[in-house]
Amino acid sequence: MSRARAAIILAAGQGTRMKSDLPKVLHEVGGRPMLDWAIAAAEGVGASRIVVVTGRHAPSVGEHAVGRLGAGAAVVQDPPLGTGHAVRAAEGALADFDGDVIILYGDAPFVPAARIEAMFAARAASGGLAVLGFEAADPTGYGRLIEGQDGLLARIVEHKDASAAERAVKLCNSGVMCADAKTLFALLAQVNNNNSKGEYYLTDIVALAAAGGLSTHIVRGAESDALGVNSRAELAQAEAVFQRRARLAAMEAGVTLLDPGSVYFSYDTVIEPDVVIEPHVVFGKGVKIAKGARINAFCHFTEAEIGPGAQVGPHARLRPGAKLGPRVKIGNFVEVKNSTFGEKAQASHLAYVGDSDVGAGANIGAGAITCNYDGFSKSRTVIGAGAFIGSDTAMVAPVSIGAGAYTGAGSVITKDVPDGALAVSRARQQNFEGWANQFREAKRKDKEAK
Ligand code: UD1
Ligand code: CA
Repeated sequence: MSRARAAIILAAGQGTRMKSDLPKVLHEVGGRPMLDWAIAAAEGVGASRIVVVTGRHAPSVGEHAVGRLGAGAAVVQDPPLGTGHAVRAAEGALADFDGDVIILYGDAPFVPAARIEAMFAARAASGGLAVLGFEAADPTGYGRLIEGQDGLLARIVEHKDASAAERAVKLCNSGVMCADAKTLFALLAQVNNNNSKGEYYLTDIVALAAAGGLSTHIVRGAESDALGVNSRAELAQAEAVFQRRARLAAMEAGVTLLDPGSVYFSYDTVIEPDVVIEPHVVFGKGVKIAKGARINAFCHFTEAEIGPGAQVGPHARLRPGAKLGPRVKIGNFVEVKNSTFGEKAQASHLAYVGDSDVGAGANIGAGAITCNYDGFSKSRTVIGAGAFIGSDTAMVAPVSIGAGAYTGAGSVITKDVPDGALAVSRARQQNFEGWANQFREAKRKDKEAK
């Protein structure tokens, strides 16, 4: 990479159509705020400086950007007077920057790194500008890319300002633009707001650049590359695009999805080859699954690791900090939180295992639970290797059950159990011979007497 790269991410729009207390760019696609998709795209092409332009109405956007990128990463555009005005708001923050700038939108999560690279390359070859364009099925509302005789971009005309002939053009402006920083700000200083919206349009720099003898390139992408989110319906559309891509990528990487359309991924889901996933599985953030594991239907995982050859579900829930070793088995209606399972340990039915370390080969019976929370603090349960936890055992943490130990079904375990011991804590059973028949007879006589 010869020249330094910076990114300006526009995120000062009101996002009113979302009808949300949460700023639009903080709404998530694939479990990641849209703004972070744009930031990741900028980082992905090696931007050394990233400036997010925010609105006064949404300070949380700036806080998010600073939290993610460090002090100075957010500037406020107040009031918002158009996309050109928004880019100018970043001028001060990039005053000492010399190099190329890519302009991205905080509400357009899918601009591929390859397209941005193509834009940098087109720019580098000529010293001019590059714009990412796409053919829209329905171009209504988009700015149109008007090509000159030379095949270069002559200007961009906004839909509202376009003539009928210009509106017939299907080639649209994605909004993504690449220029040398100094040139960009020099051109923006010449932009006025004489247009139907009374705004300072970023798009106007194209005609100014062309008039000044700079070459203006179009890099073509797919419509989905430019997908922008303005409403909940478009957010759902973006989510669908992400999920479709994630499912295809998983299958291409060697994962079997029995019903791809019912499996939901997060942006950071990692699944190794030869994992089989049955229908209706949701991956929250931070899930890793190793080779050869099988995920049965109706599971929900968040921040969990599943070891090689493990079997999970149906109907299992893995919450943050669940770490399953090789060939662990977690069966139906089992919830695991912040717990490790050693190799071949299992909890096959109806259990809650929280804040625990379960040794290799241990078996947790149906209905067993760890009582890890007393309303104030959480405590750990340690279950030794090869231990056998009887059905319906309640383990009151902090407590440890020794290696190879047994607990009797229905026991409430409040004291540590030594290795190899049996712990039983329940009332002894008494049988009263004939009691039931006598009881029924007495009740029947009472009723007859009434
Ligand atoms: C813009 C482009 C249009 C393009 C379309 C693609 C201009 C003038 N028009 O139109 O050519 O086809 O995007 O979606 O650039 N923003 C600010 N401050 C502002 C105004 C906007 O930060 O003062 C941000 C918004 O938050 C948004 C982005 O800029 O992320 C685009 O703004 P928007 O108002 O949606 O532009 P469009 O009219 O859709
Ligand atoms: Ca828009």
